[in-house]
Amino acid sequence: MSRQQRGIFVSKPNYMKENKFEFNYTVYENVDELSDSEKALLLQAREVTANAYAPYSRFQVGAVAQLANGEVVKGSNQENASFPAGLCAERVLLSTVSSLYPRVPIDVMAISYKSEHQSSDHPISPCGICRQSLQEAENRWNQSIKLILGGMSGPVYVIDSASRLLPLAFTSEELR
Ligand code: THU
Repeated sequence: MSRQQRGIFVSKPNYMKENKFEFNYTVYENVDELSDSEKALLLQAREVTANAYAPYSRFQVGAVAQLANGEVVKGSNQENASFPAGLCAERVLLSTVSSLYPRVPIDVMAISYKSEHQSSDHPISPCGICRQSLQEAENRWNQSIKLILGGMSGPVYVIDSASRLLPLAFTSEELR
């Protein structure tokens, strides 16, 4: 199949310039390479996967937030027989934090998972909707949320700011 047939259009219009997006993140070999506080958060994220309600996907996600006031808040995915009504762990957590501590930003979020269908030996990263919600939280507090992503074993990714995962985001700036 040609590139044209796959929907990749190669003809170049006149343009002013080409921009590039890239970002750096750190890859650790395993959880033991993290700092003590980062390790503690990821271990709690692994633990809280057990609180997921995921009878449909059998994919249990745990997310833990370290807040600027020192509190730690936990969330997990909560599914629904009406599939779109289900919520990812990250958005459950963001809403819980905002409800419990409406004036406190999140410094760090650790995310882990386990699955009946695949082994949890590599990091997963937040879905598109969660990236949008994370970006909103960063924008709201004008503060980065560091992400720590890891499975039950294997490498761990540390990303200094969740918004790195959502280039050219639609933000509240547009609605002023
Ligand atoms: N899920 C999360 O909770 N977070 C993610 O980052 C990806 C996916 C949930 C949604 C659904 O309950 C299950 O995992 C399978 O998609």
